Amino acid sequence: MTGPHRVGIIADPQVRVAPASLEDSPQWTGSVRHYSAVLGHVRTAAEEFRERQVEWVMQMGDLLDNANARVEPPCSREALAAVEAELIRSHCKGLERVHHVIGNNDIQCFSRRDWTAYEWARRARHAVGEDIPEVGAYTHYYHFKPFQDLRWRFVVLDSFVVSVVPNAENEEEEAKSLLRAVGTGSVGCASIPPDSSSDMYRSSMFGEAYNALAPDDVRRRFTWGNGGFGKVQLAWLRAVLDDVKARGDERVMLFAHNPVHPSVVNDPDGLAYDYDECLKVVADYQDFVVACVAGHDHIGGYTYDKSTHVHHLTVPSPLEASAGTGSRFLIMEFDDEMVWIQGSATVVENPISRAFPAADGLGAERKRQAQLTHRYVDFSNHWGVTWLAKA
Ligand SMILES: [Fe+2]
Repeated sequence: MTGPHRVGIIADPQVRVAPASLEDSPQWTGSVRHYSAVLGHVRTAAEEFRERQVEWVMQMGDLLDNANARVEPPCSREALAAVEAELIRSHCKGLERVHHVIGNNDIQCFSRRDWTAYEWARRARHAVGEDIPEVGAYTHYYHFKPFQDLRWRFVVLDSFVVSVVPNAENEEEEAKSLLRAVGTGSVGCASIPPDSSSDMYRSSMFGEAYNALAPDDVRRRFTWGNGGFGKVQLAWLRAVLDDVKARGDERVMLFAHNPVHPSVVNDPDGLAYDYDECLKVVADYQDFVVACVAGHDHIGGYTYDKSTHVHHLTVPSPLEASAGTGSRFLIMEFDDEMVWIQGSATVVENPISRAFPAADGLGAERKRQAQLTHRYVDFSNHWGVTWLAKA
């Protein structure tokens, strides 16, 4: 294809179909999860993707909500069908141009073996030249050249390889040793907890020490439902970037469900367990790594790391889009020199951690400070947000 090359991005729709759980759900952060409206937002995004002729869609993880797996009988397959019916509007080739980044809710709805067998994920990887078997083990991290006439390379990472989420075929032992090392108490549990996002839940799992952590203490990331890349994947990432370096002519964008920079999360609990190790890799290859794109932290955030000249963006979730505030998707347009970004989303630049009045007594003060100092990146009004490609 000649002309503009565009990619659509959507994160964390967390689609539910269980009827009893479709009510809007207020969060301790002060926002509301609009389960009944989110499929409409996915439809709006997909129709815009088709209108703008995007070549790929990057689905940043948590396509489904773990509540689908907690009802009897489970309805994860129905939820997947419901969101497929909307996403398929995005492209004339159906879903084979949609890349699925693995999120924590996804591996609570389906095992890794199920995701391995998921036809559309396999077909998306076939479309970029990978030979994926129908069954058997393979990784959910891979890389590809999205546009044949441009010098970009996309790297899709799996930030839940190291995790204690049960029945998901993760590297549980590496996760347990990480959690034990930071003294967060007991790890692993037999079933999916009823509300893994609440502080009450965390204190029950990890003891009062967890709630005593400062709002910006990055040890908050060591919660049960979180995850990491692991040593094997990060070594693989270095090898991929070594190859790029040897070729000397490509720019790289990384995609992972979890953010890897403390300045793009509204709560440090969203950082990948080994975000710091990932940042070291990014720093070592900063000459050609342009951006790290993530989801997971539903409010979203953006920062430009001046030490590495790398952009970090957490894409906000359509699940928490109140009426009249847009549908929370982005479209990136690429050439060899620039990335232009537009969409239906506004994110905070360098968000202040846990500026949520309900979180604790100091949350209100942090929120007041945030209202005074926060700057917002508004992707909705113009093609004014540009990232300069390197070298
Ligand atoms: Fe998530």
